[in-house]
Amino acid sequence: MLQRTTTYSAEETIALGERIGRNLRPGDVLAFSGELGSGKTTMIRGVVRAALGDDPVASPTFVFWHRYRKEPPLHHLDLYRVESEHELEELGFEEALTPDAVVLVEWPERAPELLPEDRLAVTIEGIGALPRSITLHAGGPRSERLLGCLEAAC
Ligand SMILES: Nc1ncnc2c1ncn2[C@@H]1O[C@H](COP(=O)(O)OP(=O)(O)OP(=O)(O)O)[C@@H](O)[C@H]1O
Ligand SMILES: [Mg+2]
Repeated sequence: MLQRTTTYSAEETIALGERIGRNLRPGDVLAFSGELGSGKTTMIRGVVRAALGDDPVASPTFVFWHRYRKEPPLHHLDLYRVESEHELEELGFEEALTPDAVVLVEWPERAPELLPEDRLAVTIEGIGALPRSITLHAGGPRSERLLGCLEAAC
């Protein structure tokens, strides 16, 4: 299942993130791909805001890894500087990926084996002042449910 949309401002991308954030369920995994400055963090800001309310405070587990709450856990990881999956394993990533954890990952290409296949893959194309072409792809039933909620409100 696939959905494409275009946003013309950071605010529109945040709003798309908020639509996703409102419909998250424990265990949902989202992977954000796109080059530097395409808007992954911008969209995640919307997801987190809608999931948790305004101005959530993260406890930084590591610089690239923010945990926003414990129950159910909400993680935001930016893997850009992560060199190997082994490094992530050593830092306890697999333990953090509990069945009820919501996980938002930038640069999922850095950890192709560690993320579940059933994830919502968000791909953002365009940088700078260009519009962003945003593709959402569901890799299994769990992420299909989430994607379905964007097409027809749940
Ligand atoms: N339509 C748009 N959607 C998202 N961001 C936009 C849009 N138009 C302009 N921008 C701007 O592009 C920048 C995107 O930066 P952001 O940090 O979100 O990128 P990123 O993909 O997370 O980069 P990195 O890989 O370095 O983490 C922001 O400054 C944002 O305001
Ligand atoms: Mg980013």
